[in-house]
Amino acid sequence: MEFNGIMVVSYIIATILFILALGGLSNQETARRGNWYGIVGMAIALAATIWGIVSQAYVELIVALLIGGTVGIIAARRVQMTQMPELVAILHSLVGAAAVAVGFANFMDPGRLAHFTGVELTIHDIETYIGILIGAVTFSGSVIAFGKLSGRIGGKPLTLPARHWLNLALLIGALYFGYAFVQESAAGGGVIPLIIMTAIALLFGIHMVMAIGGADMPVVVSMLNSYSGWAASATGFMLGNDLLIVTGALVGSSGAILSYIMCRAMNRKFLAVIAGGFGTSEGTVVAGAEDQGEVVPISAEETAELLNDSREVMIIPGYGMAVAQAQHIVHEITQALRGKKINVRFGIHPVAGRMPGHMNVLLAEAKVPYDIVFEMDEINDDFPDVDVSIVIGANDIVNPSALTDPEGPIGGMPVLECWKGKTTIVLKRSMATGYAGVQNPLFFLENTRMLFGDAKDTLEAVFKAL
Ligand code: TAP
Repeated sequence: MEFNGIMVVSYIIATILFILALGGLSNQETARRGNWYGIVGMAIALAATIWGIVSQAYVELIVALLIGGTVGIIAARRVQMTQMPELVAILHSLVGAAAVAVGFANFMDPGRLAHFTGVELTIHDIETYIGILIGAVTFSGSVIAFGKLSGRIGGKPLTLPARHWLNLALLIGALYFGYAFVQESAAGGGVIPLIIMTAIALLFGIHMVMAIGGADMPVVVSMLNSYSGWAASATGFMLGNDLLIVTGALVGSSGAILSYIMCRAMNRKFLAVIAGGFGTSEGTVVAGAEDQGEVVPISAEETAELLNDSREVMIIPGYGMAVAQAQHIVHEITQALRGKKINVRFGIHPVAGRMPGHMNVLLAEAKVPYDIVFEMDEINDDFPDVDVSIVIGANDIVNPSALTDPEGPIGGMPVLECWKGKTTIVLKRSMATGYAGVQNPLFFLENTRMLFGDAKDTLEAVFKAL
Protein backbone atom coordinates (compact mmCIF):
# COMPACT_ATOMS: atom_id res chain seq x y z
CA MET A 1 0.00 0.00 0.00
CA GLU A 2 2.81 2.32 0.99
CA PHE A 3 4.55 1.49 -2.24
CA ASN A 4 1.41 2.43 -4.10
CA GLY A 5 1.56 5.84 -2.41
CA ILE A 6 5.12 6.37 -3.68
CA MET A 7 3.93 5.45 -7.17
CA VAL A 8 1.11 7.98 -7.07
CA VAL A 9 3.41 10.71 -5.80
CA SER A 10 6.02 9.88 -8.47
CA TYR A 11 3.38 10.07 -11.17
CA ILE A 12 2.12 13.42 -9.92
CA ILE A 13 5.67 14.80 -9.82
CA ALA A 14 6.33 13.49 -13.34
CA THR A 15 3.10 15.08 -14.60
CA ILE A 16 4.04 18.44 -13.08
CA LEU A 17 7.51 18.19 -14.63
CA PHE A 18 6.00 17.47 -18.06
CA ILE A 19 3.79 20.53 -17.80
CA LEU A 20 6.78 22.64 -16.72
CA ALA A 21 8.73 21.19 -19.66
CA LEU A 22 6.07 22.34 -22.13
CA GLY A 23 6.02 25.77 -20.50
CA GLY A 24 9.82 25.99 -20.69
CA LEU A 25 9.92 25.01 -24.34
CA SER A 26 7.73 27.95 -25.31
CA ASN A 27 10.65 30.35 -24.97
CA GLN A 28 14.25 30.14 -26.17
CA GLU A 29 15.76 31.32 -22.94
CA THR A 30 13.95 28.68 -20.88
CA ALA A 31 14.01 25.88 -23.47
CA ARG A 32 17.09 24.19 -22.04
CA ARG A 33 15.55 24.15 -18.58
CA GLY A 34 12.30 22.87 -20.12
CA ASN A 35 14.18 19.98 -21.69
CA TRP A 36 15.68 19.07 -18.34
CA TYR A 37 12.26 19.07 -16.68
CA GLY A 38 11.13 16.67 -19.39
CA ILE A 39 14.16 14.40 -19.00
CA VAL A 40 13.84 14.23 -15.21
CA GLY A 41 10.07 13.72 -15.44
CA MET A 42 10.53 10.86 -17.89
CA ALA A 43 13.25 9.28 -15.71
CA ILE A 44 10.95 9.40 -12.69
CA ALA A 45 8.05 8.00 -14.72
CA LEU A 46 10.16 5.13 -16.06
CA ALA A 47 11.64 4.29 -12.66
CA ALA A 48 8.24 4.35 -10.95
CA THR A 49 6.74 2.14 -13.67
CA ILE A 50 9.63 -0.34 -13.67
CA TRP A 51 9.71 -0.75 -9.90
CA GLY A 52 6.09 -0.14 -9.13
CA ILE A 53 4.16 -1.93 -11.85
CA VAL A 54 6.38 -4.53 -13.45
CA SER A 55 6.67 -7.49 -11.12
CA GLN A 56 8.16 -10.14 -13.37
CA ALA A 57 10.27 -10.62 -16.51
CA TYR A 58 12.80 -8.03 -15.36
CA VAL A 59 15.52 -9.50 -17.53
CA GLU A 60 13.48 -9.15 -20.73
CA LEU A 61 12.48 -5.64 -19.71
CA ILE A 62 16.04 -4.46 -19.05
CA VAL A 63 17.31 -6.05 -22.27
CA ALA A 64 14.52 -4.37 -24.28
CA LEU A 65 15.24 -1.02 -22.60
CA LEU A 66 18.93 -1.32 -23.36
CA ILE A 67 18.33 -2.19 -27.02
CA GLY A 68 15.74 0.58 -27.46
CA GLY A 69 17.87 3.11 -25.60
CA THR A 70 20.95 2.32 -27.68
CA VAL A 71 19.08 2.59 -30.98
CA GLY A 72 17.59 5.90 -29.80
CA ILE A 73 20.95 7.35 -28.77
CA ILE A 74 22.61 6.35 -32.05
CA ALA A 75 19.74 7.74 -34.15
CA ALA A 76 19.66 11.01 -32.22
CA ARG A 77 23.42 11.51 -32.47
CA ARG A 78 23.52 10.83 -36.19
CA VAL A 79 20.56 12.90 -37.28
CA GLN A 80 21.21 16.19 -39.05
CA MET A 81 19.12 19.18 -38.05
CA THR A 82 17.48 19.14 -41.51
CA GLN A 83 16.46 15.49 -41.02
CA MET A 84 14.78 16.16 -37.70
CA PRO A 85 11.19 16.03 -39.05
CA GLU A 86 11.82 12.55 -40.54
CA LEU A 87 13.22 11.27 -37.26
CA VAL A 88 10.22 12.66 -35.42
CA ALA A 89 7.89 11.03 -37.98
CA ILE A 90 9.45 7.60 -37.62
CA LEU A 91 9.42 7.89 -33.82
CA HIS A 92 5.70 8.62 -33.96
CA SER A 93 5.21 5.43 -35.91
CA LEU A 94 6.66 3.54 -32.95
CA VAL A 95 4.11 5.08 -30.58
CA GLY A 96 1.37 3.98 -32.98
CA ALA A 97 2.79 0.47 -33.28
CA ALA A 98 3.05 0.23 -29.48
CA ALA A 99 -0.60 1.24 -29.10
CA VAL A 100 -1.64 -1.46 -31.59
CA ALA A 101 0.49 -4.09 -29.81
CA VAL A 102 -0.84 -3.15 -26.37
CA GLY A 103 -4.39 -3.21 -27.75
CA PHE A 104 -4.05 -6.72 -29.13
CA ALA A 105 -2.25 -7.94 -25.99
CA ASN A 106 -5.05 -6.47 -23.92
CA PHE A 107 -7.68 -8.16 -26.06
CA MET A 108 -5.93 -11.53 -25.88
CA ASP A 109 -5.36 -11.32 -22.12
CA PRO A 110 -7.03 -14.49 -20.75
CA GLY A 111 -8.13 -12.63 -17.61
CA ARG A 112 -10.11 -10.04 -19.60
CA LEU A 113 -13.48 -11.78 -19.49
CA ALA A 114 -12.94 -12.75 -15.85
CA HIS A 115 -12.16 -9.17 -14.77
CA PHE A 116 -14.77 -7.32 -16.77
CA THR A 117 -18.44 -7.98 -17.35
CA GLY A 118 -21.42 -6.04 -18.65
CA VAL A 119 -20.92 -2.31 -19.12
CA GLU A 120 -17.34 -2.46 -17.83
CA LEU A 121 -16.44 -4.98 -20.50
CA THR A 122 -18.05 -2.81 -23.18
CA ILE A 123 -16.09 0.24 -22.01
CA HIS A 124 -12.89 -1.77 -21.87
CA ASP A 125 -13.51 -3.10 -25.39
CA ILE A 126 -14.20 0.36 -26.77
CA GLU A 127 -10.94 1.60 -25.21
CA THR A 128 -9.09 -1.27 -26.84
CA TYR A 129 -10.76 -0.68 -30.19
CA ILE A 130 -10.10 3.07 -30.22
CA GLY A 131 -6.52 2.55 -29.04
CA ILE A 132 -5.78 0.16 -31.90
CA LEU A 133 -7.60 2.38 -34.40
CA ILE A 134 -5.66 5.56 -33.54
CA GLY A 135 -2.45 3.56 -33.16
CA ALA A 136 -2.74 1.96 -36.60
CA VAL A 137 -3.56 5.28 -38.33
CA THR A 138 -0.60 6.90 -36.55
CA PHE A 139 1.68 4.02 -37.47
CA SER A 140 1.02 3.80 -41.20
CA GLY A 141 0.59 7.57 -41.58
CA SER A 142 3.92 8.22 -39.88
CA VAL A 143 5.73 5.64 -41.99
CA ILE A 144 4.46 7.35 -45.16
CA ALA A 145 5.33 10.78 -43.73
CA PHE A 146 8.85 9.49 -43.03
CA GLY A 147 9.07 8.16 -46.60
CA LYS A 148 7.97 11.47 -48.07
CA LEU A 149 10.20 13.63 -45.90
CA SER A 150 13.26 11.51 -46.57
CA GLY A 151 12.58 11.51 -50.32
CA ARG A 152 11.94 7.75 -50.50
CA ILE A 153 8.40 8.49 -51.62
CA GLY A 154 7.68 11.38 -54.02
CA GLY A 155 6.34 14.60 -52.48
CA LYS A 156 3.49 14.95 -54.96
CA PRO A 157 0.03 14.50 -53.47
CA LEU A 158 -1.78 11.33 -54.51
CA THR A 159 -5.24 12.44 -55.52
CA LEU A 160 -7.32 9.39 -56.29
CA PRO A 161 -10.70 10.06 -57.88
CA ALA A 162 -13.43 10.07 -55.22
CA ARG A 163 -10.79 9.98 -52.50
CA HIS A 164 -13.05 11.73 -49.97
CA TRP A 165 -15.70 9.06 -50.55
CA LEU A 166 -13.05 6.42 -50.04
CA ASN A 167 -12.15 7.99 -46.70
CA LEU A 168 -15.81 8.13 -45.74
CA ALA A 169 -16.25 4.47 -46.66
CA LEU A 170 -13.24 3.55 -44.51
CA LEU A 171 -14.67 5.54 -41.59
CA ILE A 172 -18.08 3.87 -41.89
CA GLY A 173 -16.33 0.49 -42.10
CA ALA A 174 -14.38 1.23 -38.91
CA LEU A 175 -17.61 2.20 -37.10
CA TYR A 176 -19.44 -0.89 -38.32
CA PHE A 177 -16.68 -3.29 -37.28
CA GLY A 178 -16.44 -1.49 -33.92
CA TYR A 179 -20.08 -2.35 -33.30
CA ALA A 180 -19.50 -5.95 -34.43
CA PHE A 181 -16.41 -6.21 -32.22
CA VAL A 182 -18.20 -5.10 -29.06
CA GLN A 183 -21.08 -7.48 -29.78
CA GLU A 184 -18.87 -10.49 -30.42
CA SER A 185 -16.34 -9.77 -27.69
CA ALA A 186 -18.76 -10.49 -24.82
CA ALA A 187 -19.29 -13.96 -26.30
CA GLY A 188 -15.56 -14.59 -26.40
CA GLY A 189 -15.05 -13.68 -30.07
CA GLY A 190 -14.30 -10.42 -31.83
CA VAL A 191 -10.88 -11.08 -33.25
CA ILE A 192 -12.02 -10.93 -36.90
CA PRO A 193 -13.63 -7.44 -36.73
CA LEU A 194 -10.59 -6.25 -34.76
CA ILE A 195 -8.19 -7.42 -37.45
CA ILE A 196 -10.35 -6.02 -40.27
CA MET A 197 -10.54 -2.64 -38.50
CA THR A 198 -6.74 -2.64 -38.07
CA ALA A 199 -6.34 -3.18 -41.80
CA ILE A 200 -8.83 -0.38 -42.52
CA ALA A 201 -7.02 1.98 -40.15
CA LEU A 202 -3.64 1.18 -41.70
CA LEU A 203 -5.06 1.85 -45.15
CA PHE A 204 -6.63 5.09 -43.98
CA GLY A 205 -3.29 6.30 -42.53
CA ILE A 206 -1.50 5.54 -45.79
CA HIS A 207 -4.15 7.17 -47.95
CA MET A 208 -4.45 10.25 -45.74
CA VAL A 209 -0.74 11.08 -45.84
CA MET A 210 -0.22 10.05 -49.48
CA ALA A 211 -2.81 12.69 -50.43
CA ILE A 212 -0.84 15.47 -48.75
CA GLY A 213 1.71 17.37 -50.80
CA GLY A 214 5.27 18.27 -49.84
CA ALA A 215 4.43 21.79 -48.73
CA ASP A 216 2.08 20.61 -46.02
CA MET A 217 4.17 17.74 -44.67
CA PRO A 218 5.45 19.53 -41.53
CA VAL A 219 1.86 20.23 -40.50
CA VAL A 220 1.11 16.56 -41.00
CA VAL A 221 4.06 15.54 -38.84
CA SER A 222 2.80 17.75 -36.09
CA MET A 223 -0.71 16.35 -36.56
CA LEU A 224 0.66 12.79 -36.34
CA ASN A 225 2.47 13.93 -33.21
CA SER A 226 -0.94 14.83 -31.85
CA TYR A 227 -2.36 11.44 -32.91
CA SER A 228 0.53 9.64 -31.27
CA GLY A 229 -0.37 11.47 -28.05
CA TRP A 230 -3.98 10.34 -28.25
CA ALA A 231 -2.79 6.80 -29.06
CA ALA A 232 -0.64 6.87 -25.91
CA SER A 233 -3.57 8.23 -23.95
CA ALA A 234 -5.80 5.41 -25.22
CA THR A 235 -3.08 2.95 -24.20
CA GLY A 236 -3.15 4.56 -20.75
CA PHE A 237 -6.88 3.85 -20.51
CA MET A 238 -6.35 0.24 -21.61
CA LEU A 239 -3.63 -0.30 -19.02
CA GLY A 240 -5.31 1.78 -16.33
CA ASN A 241 -2.19 3.95 -16.15
CA ASP A 242 -3.01 7.54 -15.15
CA LEU A 243 0.37 8.97 -16.06
CA LEU A 244 0.14 7.62 -19.60
CA ILE A 245 -3.35 9.09 -19.97
CA VAL A 246 -2.20 12.54 -18.85
CA THR A 247 1.07 12.50 -20.80
CA GLY A 248 -0.70 11.31 -23.93
CA ALA A 249 -3.27 14.07 -23.56
CA LEU A 250 -0.48 16.66 -23.16
CA VAL A 251 1.23 15.44 -26.34
CA GLY A 252 -2.11 15.15 -28.14
CA SER A 253 -3.26 18.65 -27.35
CA SER A 254 0.11 20.37 -27.81
CA GLY A 255 0.51 18.66 -31.20
CA ALA A 256 -2.94 19.85 -32.23
CA ILE A 257 -2.18 23.42 -31.11
CA LEU A 258 1.13 23.37 -32.98
CA SER A 259 -0.57 22.15 -36.17
CA TYR A 260 -3.06 24.98 -35.83
CA ILE A 261 -0.29 27.58 -35.31
CA MET A 262 1.59 26.31 -38.36
CA CYS A 263 -1.52 26.37 -40.52
CA ARG A 264 -2.23 29.93 -39.44
CA ALA A 265 1.35 31.02 -40.24
CA MET A 266 1.06 29.44 -43.70
CA ASN A 267 -2.46 30.77 -44.13
CA ARG A 268 -3.79 27.27 -44.77
CA LYS A 269 -6.99 25.89 -43.34
CA PHE A 270 -6.37 22.87 -41.12
CA LEU A 271 -9.16 20.89 -42.73
CA ALA A 272 -7.86 21.77 -46.20
CA VAL A 273 -4.43 20.43 -45.19
CA ILE A 274 -5.94 17.16 -43.98
CA ALA A 275 -8.07 16.90 -47.12
CA GLY A 276 -4.79 17.01 -49.02
CA GLY A 277 -4.02 17.64 -52.65
CA PHE A 278 -1.87 20.74 -52.12
CA GLY A 279 1.79 21.28 -52.84
CA THR A 280 4.26 20.28 -55.51
CA SER A 281 7.84 19.22 -55.23
CA GLU A 282 10.40 21.89 -54.36
CA GLY A 283 13.54 22.87 -56.24
CA THR A 284 11.88 23.20 -59.62
CA VAL A 285 12.53 26.08 -61.96
CA VAL A 286 9.06 27.20 -62.87
CA ALA A 287 8.01 28.38 -66.26
CA GLY A 288 7.47 32.07 -66.61
CA ALA A 289 10.73 33.02 -64.91
CA GLU A 290 11.82 34.80 -68.09
CA ASP A 291 8.69 36.94 -68.21
CA GLN A 292 9.51 38.57 -64.91
CA GLY A 293 12.61 40.32 -66.23
CA GLU A 294 16.27 40.15 -65.43
CA VAL A 295 17.88 39.49 -62.09
CA VAL A 296 20.93 41.48 -61.03
CA PRO A 297 23.76 39.40 -59.59
CA ILE A 298 26.19 40.80 -57.03
CA SER A 299 29.61 39.63 -55.87
CA ALA A 300 30.71 38.86 -52.33
CA GLU A 301 33.02 41.91 -52.33
CA GLU A 302 30.23 44.26 -53.42
CA THR A 303 28.01 42.74 -50.74
CA ALA A 304 30.66 43.44 -48.11
CA GLU A 305 30.92 47.02 -49.34
CA LEU A 306 27.16 47.53 -49.14
CA LEU A 307 27.14 46.11 -45.63
CA ASN A 308 30.05 48.31 -44.54
CA ASP A 309 28.15 51.37 -45.76
CA SER A 310 24.92 50.55 -43.96
CA ARG A 311 23.59 51.41 -40.51
CA GLU A 312 20.66 49.01 -40.30
CA VAL A 313 21.02 45.40 -41.43
CA MET A 314 18.28 42.76 -41.27
CA ILE A 315 19.21 39.11 -41.69
CA ILE A 316 16.42 36.81 -42.88
CA PRO A 317 17.39 33.15 -42.62
CA GLY A 318 15.47 30.34 -44.29
CA TYR A 319 15.74 26.67 -45.07
CA GLY A 320 18.88 27.19 -47.22
CA MET A 321 20.82 28.41 -44.18
CA ALA A 322 20.08 25.07 -42.55
CA VAL A 323 21.10 23.16 -45.69
CA ALA A 324 24.35 25.11 -46.01
CA GLN A 325 24.95 24.97 -42.23
CA ALA A 326 25.81 28.65 -42.53
CA GLN A 327 24.71 29.70 -39.04
CA HIS A 328 28.25 29.93 -37.62
CA ILE A 329 29.57 32.17 -40.38
CA VAL A 330 26.36 34.23 -40.05
CA HIS A 331 27.26 34.76 -36.41
CA GLU A 332 30.81 35.80 -37.28
CA ILE A 333 29.56 38.32 -39.82
CA THR A 334 27.06 39.62 -37.26
CA GLN A 335 29.83 40.14 -34.72
CA ALA A 336 32.03 41.88 -37.29
CA LEU A 337 29.23 44.26 -38.30
CA ARG A 338 28.23 44.97 -34.71
CA GLY A 339 31.89 45.74 -34.04
CA LYS A 340 31.54 48.47 -36.68
CA LYS A 341 28.53 49.91 -34.83
CA ILE A 342 26.09 48.63 -37.46
CA ASN A 343 22.75 47.57 -36.00
CA VAL A 344 22.16 43.96 -37.01
CA ARG A 345 18.86 42.22 -36.36
CA PHE A 346 17.36 38.91 -37.39
CA GLY A 347 13.81 38.58 -38.72
CA ILE A 348 12.36 35.12 -38.19
CA HIS A 349 9.29 33.97 -40.07
CA PRO A 350 7.12 31.51 -38.10
CA VAL A 351 7.48 28.83 -40.80
CA ALA A 352 11.03 29.55 -41.95
CA GLY A 353 12.87 26.29 -42.54
CA ARG A 354 11.13 22.98 -42.17
CA MET A 355 9.99 22.80 -38.58
CA PRO A 356 8.82 25.17 -35.88
CA GLY A 357 11.69 27.10 -34.33
CA HIS A 358 14.14 25.69 -36.93
CA MET A 359 15.97 29.00 -37.39
CA ASN A 360 15.98 29.84 -33.69
CA VAL A 361 17.60 26.51 -32.90
CA LEU A 362 20.35 27.04 -35.49
CA LEU A 363 21.03 30.62 -34.40
CA ALA A 364 21.11 29.57 -30.74
CA GLU A 365 23.56 26.80 -31.67
CA ALA A 366 25.80 29.43 -33.29
CA LYS A 367 25.45 31.59 -30.14
CA VAL A 368 23.72 34.52 -31.82
CA PRO A 369 22.42 36.67 -28.92
CA TYR A 370 18.66 36.22 -28.34
CA ASP A 371 18.00 39.93 -28.00
CA ILE A 372 18.71 40.66 -31.68
CA VAL A 373 16.51 37.82 -32.95
CA PHE A 374 12.95 38.99 -33.65
CA GLU A 375 9.70 37.39 -34.68
CA MET A 376 8.19 38.54 -37.98
CA ASP A 377 5.41 40.53 -36.30
CA GLU A 378 7.91 42.45 -34.19
CA ILE A 379 9.98 43.82 -37.05
CA ASN A 380 7.88 43.70 -40.20
CA ASP A 381 7.04 47.41 -39.96
CA ASP A 382 10.72 48.37 -39.64
CA PHE A 383 11.84 47.48 -43.16
CA PRO A 384 11.55 51.02 -44.59
CA ASP A 385 14.42 51.96 -42.22
CA VAL A 386 16.59 48.97 -43.17
CA ASP A 387 19.58 49.65 -45.43
CA VAL A 388 20.40 46.05 -46.36
CA SER A 389 18.35 42.89 -45.85
CA ILE A 390 20.30 39.68 -46.35
CA VAL A 391 18.04 36.80 -47.26
CA ILE A 392 19.99 33.62 -46.54
CA GLY A 393 18.49 30.61 -48.30
CA ALA A 394 14.94 31.82 -47.81
CA ASN A 395 12.38 32.00 -50.56
CA ASP A 396 8.68 31.54 -49.81
CA ILE A 397 8.82 33.56 -46.59
CA VAL A 398 9.94 36.69 -48.51
CA ASN A 399 7.69 36.21 -51.53
CA PRO A 400 5.65 39.38 -52.26
CA SER A 401 3.19 37.38 -54.37
CA ALA A 402 1.79 36.01 -51.12
CA LEU A 403 0.28 39.48 -50.71
CA THR A 404 -0.33 40.42 -54.34
CA ASP A 405 -1.73 37.12 -55.59
CA PRO A 406 -4.30 35.92 -53.05
CA GLU A 407 -5.30 33.01 -55.29
CA GLY A 408 -1.70 31.70 -55.64
CA PRO A 409 -0.39 28.67 -53.74
CA ILE A 410 0.95 30.82 -50.90
CA GLY A 411 -1.67 33.58 -51.29
CA GLY A 412 -2.50 35.25 -48.00
CA MET A 413 0.52 33.92 -46.11
CA PRO A 414 2.08 36.75 -44.10
CA VAL A 415 5.67 37.33 -45.31
CA LEU A 416 8.72 39.39 -44.32
CA GLU A 417 8.38 42.53 -46.42
CA CYS A 418 12.08 43.08 -47.02
CA TRP A 419 11.51 44.74 -50.42
CA LYS A 420 10.42 47.85 -48.52
CA GLY A 421 14.03 48.34 -47.40
CA LYS A 422 16.72 50.06 -49.47
CA THR A 423 18.46 46.94 -50.80
CA THR A 424 17.78 43.23 -50.50
CA ILE A 425 20.53 40.70 -51.16
CA VAL A 426 19.28 37.17 -51.76
CA LEU A 427 21.69 34.28 -51.21
CA LYS A 428 20.78 31.08 -53.03
CA ARG A 429 22.36 28.66 -55.47
CA SER A 430 20.08 29.04 -58.47
CA MET A 431 16.73 30.42 -59.57
CA ALA A 432 14.98 27.31 -58.24
CA THR A 433 11.79 27.65 -56.22
CA GLY A 434 11.36 26.91 -52.54
CA TYR A 435 9.00 24.58 -50.76
CA ALA A 436 5.75 25.84 -52.25
CA GLY A 437 7.14 25.55 -55.79
CA VAL A 438 6.29 29.12 -56.83
CA GLN A 439 8.37 31.78 -58.54
CA ASN A 440 9.43 34.73 -56.40
CA PRO A 441 8.98 38.23 -57.90
CA LEU A 442 11.30 39.62 -55.20
CA PHE A 443 14.32 38.36 -57.16
CA PHE A 444 13.40 40.57 -60.12
CA LEU A 445 12.84 43.82 -58.25
CA GLU A 446 15.04 46.83 -58.91
CA ASN A 447 16.43 46.98 -55.38
CA THR A 448 17.20 43.24 -55.16
CA ARG A 449 20.62 41.71 -55.82
CA MET A 450 21.30 37.99 -56.16
CA LEU A 451 24.39 36.47 -54.55
CA PHE A 452 24.50 33.03 -56.13
CA GLY A 453 26.24 30.04 -54.54
CA ASP A 454 26.11 27.86 -51.47
CA ALA A 455 25.26 30.21 -48.61
CA LYS A 456 28.18 29.08 -46.45
CA ASP A 457 30.74 29.60 -49.22
CA THR A 458 29.41 32.98 -50.28
CA LEU A 459 29.15 34.21 -46.69
CA GLU A 460 32.71 33.13 -46.02
CA ALA A 461 33.78 35.21 -49.01
CA VAL A 462 31.72 38.15 -47.70
CA PHE A 463 33.32 37.79 -44.28
CA LYS A 464 36.78 37.82 -45.79
CA ALA A 465 35.98 40.96 -47.76
CA LEU A 466 34.57 42.64 -44.65
P1 TAP B 1 12.09 27.74 -49.03
O1 TAP B 1 10.98 28.57 -49.55
O2 TAP B 1 11.99 26.28 -49.10
O3 TAP B 1 13.39 28.24 -49.80
C1 TAP B 1 14.64 27.79 -49.45
C2 TAP B 1 15.61 28.29 -50.49
O4 TAP B 1 16.92 27.98 -50.01
C3 TAP B 1 15.47 27.60 -51.82
O5 TAP B 1 14.85 28.43 -52.77
C4 TAP B 1 16.91 27.21 -52.21
O6 TAP B 1 17.23 27.80 -53.47
C5 TAP B 1 17.76 27.82 -51.12
N1 TAP B 1 18.85 26.94 -50.72
C6 TAP B 1 18.82 25.62 -50.50
N2 TAP B 1 20.02 25.17 -50.17
C7 TAP B 1 20.85 26.23 -50.18
C8 TAP B 1 22.23 26.40 -49.93
N3 TAP B 1 23.03 25.38 -49.60
N4 TAP B 1 22.76 27.65 -50.03
C9 TAP B 1 21.98 28.67 -50.39
N5 TAP B 1 20.67 28.57 -50.64
C10 TAP B 1 20.11 27.36 -50.53
O7 TAP B 1 12.40 28.06 -47.50
P2 TAP B 1 11.85 29.20 -46.54
O8 TAP B 1 11.90 30.52 -47.21
O9 TAP B 1 12.56 29.01 -45.26
O10 TAP B 1 10.31 28.86 -46.39
C11 TAP B 1 9.89 27.72 -45.69
C12 TAP B 1 8.86 26.97 -46.50
O11 TAP B 1 8.60 25.72 -45.86
C13 TAP B 1 7.55 27.70 -46.59
O12 TAP B 1 6.92 27.43 -47.81
C14 TAP B 1 6.77 27.09 -45.47
O13 TAP B 1 5.38 27.20 -45.64
C15 TAP B 1 7.22 25.65 -45.57
N6 TAP B 1 6.92 25.03 -44.31
C16 TAP B 1 7.65 25.31 -43.21
C17 TAP B 1 7.23 24.80 -42.01
C18 TAP B 1 7.94 25.14 -40.77
S1 TAP B 1 7.22 24.73 -39.44
N7 TAP B 1 9.08 25.76 -40.77
C19 TAP B 1 6.11 24.03 -41.92
C20 TAP B 1 5.40 23.77 -43.08
C21 TAP B 1 5.84 24.27 -44.26
P3 TAP B 1 18.36 27.13 -54.38
O14 TAP B 1 17.95 25.74 -54.61
O15 TAP B 1 18.36 27.99 -55.61
O16 TAP B 1 19.66 27.26 -53.63
